[in-house]
Amino acid sequence: MTKTVEARHIGHFFAQKQVLEDVNIAIGAGEVFGLLGPSGAGKTTLIKILTGQLIPSSGESTVLGTASMGLRGEDHKQIGIMMDQFGLYERLSCYDNLLLFARIYGIPKEKVRLALEKVGLAGAAGTAASDLSKGMRSRLLLARAFMTSPKLLFLDEPTSGLDPSTAQEIYKMIFEEKSRGVTVFLTTHNMAEAEKLCDRVALLNEGRIVAHDEPKALCREFNHKKRLKVHLYNGKDIDLEHTYASAEKISSLLKNGDLETIHSSEPNLENVFMELTGRSLAV
Ligand SMILES: Nc1ncnc2c1ncn2[C@@H]1O[C@H](COP(=O)(O)OP(=O)(O)OP(=O)(O)O)[C@@H](O)[C@H]1O
Ligand SMILES: [Mg+2]
Repeated sequence: MTKTVEARHIGHFFAQKQVLEDVNIAIGAGEVFGLLGPSGAGKTTLIKILTGQLIPSSGESTVLGTASMGLRGEDHKQIGIMMDQFGLYERLSCYDNLLLFARIYGIPKEKVRLALEKVGLAGAAGTAASDLSKGMRSRLLLARAFMTSPKLLFLDEPTSGLDPSTAQEIYKMIFEEKSRGVTVFLTTHNMAEAEKLCDRVALLNEGRIVAHDEPKALCREFNHKKRLKVHLYNGKDIDLEHTYASAEKISSLLKNGDLETIHSSEPNLENVFMELTGRSLAV
């Protein structure tokens, strides 16, 4: 069956520097796929290649069955793209930004108000894009990406730098799109976000995919890193291996009445990334 997004052996150089190497991805219809990686890993570069904004040095990709480089106006109606500096006119109001976009894609004018309402920006319709807060700007970019009722969404760090409650609202909107059957490709360096939103994730490090699977499956695979967190009545925390070797220590803490709580902690995507690459995602 044709995949909604497919990348085969994508490689890319900027000048002499290789920023993507042999990237292979296949995303099915209705899937929420997360590309995780630290700053500079190559996430935005890959989105640009998949959406036909950049020609890769090697490899090929298709979206909705069409080669990325061959995407035309009609195809773009089916694809919503949210990324920084993508298609906002700073001096135009929120309303006029969306109106201009609606005209380009032949969307009825009435949809502009609805789109602003959907993302909670109805009250800021007359505000210039340049005067928006970070959270409002993200909402406007999302409204624009949603406007054509696309089948496929590319969201480049949709909640980066946002407060938790705005991020939650954006998660809700992404879930709504998913429930309508929309395929979502998102990038993030927030592993908690990826665990919450994504059916599958790929971990990108220095331009290479080092692992990909369902978030839970990846964590299970690295379960040998399971730890025990012990909290004592004297306020101290102890971190122990989840092995037989810790039994004696725990037993003596219990006998002496020192142990207040004990938890097992399974690895999360952050730990998995650390183990695979020796570095943190959160940069
Ligand atoms: N137009 C460009 N010219 C030269 N180098 C570039 C260009 N765009 C990106 N790069 C380099 O390519 C690498 C990958 O950049 P990219 O923007 O894809 O990373 P990213 O994973 O999106 O990072 P972030 O999380 O910070 O957004 C970086 O080393 C960056 O400096
Ligand atoms: Mg980026």
